[in-house]
Amino acid sequence: MKYFTIKSISPNDFQTLTRMDKEIFPLKSQQTVFSITSNKQNTICYVAHALLTNRTCSLNPIGYINVLFTDFECEILSFGVAKNHRGYGVGKALIALTLKTLAGINCQSVFLEVRKSNQPARALYSKFGFKKTGVRSRYYSDNQEDAILMSLHDFENFEYLTFLQSTLDKLCFYNTGTDSKPANSIL
Ligand SMILES: CC(C)(COP(=O)(O)OP(=O)(O)OC[C@H]1O[C@@H](n2cnc3c(N)ncnc32)[C@H](O)[C@@H]1OP(=O)(O)O)[C@@H](O)C(=O)NCCC(=O)NCCS
Repeated sequence: MKYFTIKSISPNDFQTLTRMDKEIFPLKSQQTVFSITSNKQNTICYVAHALLTNRTCSLNPIGYINVLFTDFECEILSFGVAKNHRGYGVGKALIALTLKTLAGINCQSVFLEVRKSNQPARALYSKFGFKKTGVRSRYYSDNQEDAILMSLHDFENFEYLTFLQSTLDKLCFYNTGTDSKPANSIL
């Protein structure tokens, strides 16, 4: 079991996230500039932090998600979990919390693109109801790999929100405010 909490990005996270972003996406042409991202009104950036086993003290960032939204639509720009923290539900929790927040601001559609070979991410998105909507042939310039386009629509219904909440309740402490103390204790 991994203990972690999720919070909105803070300046303390910038350095580690920049390093993590480079490690997770070494081939990305443009790195995420977290200091700019965190200041924008139309972005959400959540960061997962490992917790000590007493579940009080939060450690370094271990994962993040960065999304851009307009009136009713959103795009997932960047999303990753540090290699040695994968497989513990961190990715699931980051997506669940982001979708819950997006539903709360009346977002109706979420779009993303993912490498064809990226089975872990594609499986995760499918689990949350994202459907494949198209292919951008040879989209990635490093290896000419196709991009799979996926989207999720009209997810702000009671059943889906209950699914998101129960996913979160099973997985983690979470807190989207500035306070670093976990807001929800379910472990
Ligand atoms: C995709 C990624 C964020 C998943 O993070 P994670 O914390 O390991 O994911 P979780 O532990 O929450 O797993 C969630 C689901 O993802 C899928 N998944 C995760 N790892 C998987 C693997 N190795 N193979 C197949 N499916 C996998 C499963 O459906 C899993 O659900 P389950 O545990 O109920 O079976 C992580 O693998 C990662 O950072 N990859 C590199 C960056 C990346 O691909 N980002 C997305 C770009 S579009």
